Amino acid sequence: MASPQLRRVPVFLTLMFFYITFAPSTSWLVDAGEDPVPAVWPEQFHALMFMNSSGNLSLIDLWYDWPNGRNFNIIRDQLSTSLYYDLEWNNGTSFFYRLDPASEQCRSVQLEVGILRPNWLDGATYLGQRRANGFLCNVWEKVDFIWYYEDVATKRPVQWVFYTGREANVMTYEVGAVLEDAKWQAPSYCFSKKEAINGQNPELAITGRFWEESTRRSAERFFLCCGIALFNLSVEAL
Ligand SMILES: *[C@@H]1O[C@H](CO)[C@@H](O)[C@H](O)[C@H]1NC(C)=O
Ligand SMILES: *[C@@H]1O[C@H](CO)[C@@H](O)[C@H](O)[C@H]1NC(C)=O
Ligand SMILES: *[C@@H]1O[C@H](CO)[C@@H](O)[C@H](O)[C@H]1NC(C)=O
Ligand SMILES: *[C@@H]1O[C@H](CO)[C@@H](O)[C@H](O)[C@H]1NC(C)=O
Repeated sequence: MASPQLRRVPVFLTLMFFYITFAPSTSWLVDAGEDPVPAVWPEQFHALMFMNSSGNLSLIDLWYDWPNGRNFNIIRDQLSTSLYYDLEWNNGTSFFYRLDPASEQCRSVQLEVGILRPNWLDGATYLGQRRANGFLCNVWEKVDFIWYYEDVATKRPVQWVFYTGREANVMTYEVGAVLEDAKWQAPSYCFSKKEAINGQNPELAITGRFWEESTRRSAERFFLCCGIALFNLSVEAL
C-alpha cells in the first residue's frame, strides 16, 4: 500500500507536465498579471478639448510641443468674450494672460519643473477597461491625481479626470500638428513687470503640494493640474 505522500508525486508530475506543455502557448496563463501600459504621448500634437468642471464648461486648444520645450493651453470659457492663455516653457516659466488691449494683464510664474514629458504616464496604475464617452477604454490612475482613459482600439486619449472632478474630453487629436512660432510670443506687458505669485495663497499651496510630490516622483509636471489652479488664481486677480 502506497503512503499518501508517494501517491501525490505522480499527480504533481502530471500537473508539471501539463503546465510545461501548455503554459507557453496558453496566453491567459502567460498574460495574467501583465497590464497594458498607456501610449507614450506624441512629441507634438494639437488637441481640442471640451472641459467640464462641476458644470463650468470651457474649450481648450492644447498645443503640446516637447522638442521645442513648450506647451500651450488656450482657454475659452463658455460664452466668454475673450480667451485666456496659459503658456508654459520647459525652463519652468509660465505666462497667464489675455490679449485685451483695454486691460493689459499678465502673470508669470516660475516653477521648479518643466512641462510634462511624453512618458509622464509611466508607472500609472492600471484599473481595467471602462466606457468613456461611448469609447471602450483602458483606464489608469496616477498618484490619486488623474484618471486617464485611452481608446482600446486606437490608443488615443479619450478623456482624463482630475481628482477635483474636472474632466477633459479629447475632441480632436492631431498628431504632429505644431503651432507657428509667432503664436508662442507672450505679449510685451508680460515682461514689463514681474509679479511673483505669493506662496501663501491657498490655491498655490495646493499646487505646491503637488509640485513637491511630482518632483519627488521623477520631476514630472502635471501642467494641466497646475494650470487649472493657477488659472483660477489668476482669474481672481484679473
Ligand atoms: C458637467 O458635469 C456635471 C457634473 O459635475 C454634470 O452634471 C453635467 O451634466 C456635465 N455637463 C456636460 C455638458 O457634460
Ligand atoms: C464655476 O464658475 C463660477 C463663476 O465663474 C465660479 O464662481 C465657480 O467657482 C466655478 N466653479 C468651479 C468648480 O470652478
Ligand atoms: C524661459 O523661456 C521663455 C521663452 O524663451 C522666456 O521668455 C523666459 O524668460 C525663460 N525663463 C527663464 C527663467 O529663463
Ligand atoms: C477656484 O477658486 C475658488 C475660490 O477660491 C474655489 O472655491 C474653487 O475650488 C477653485 N477651483 C479650482 C478648480 O481650484
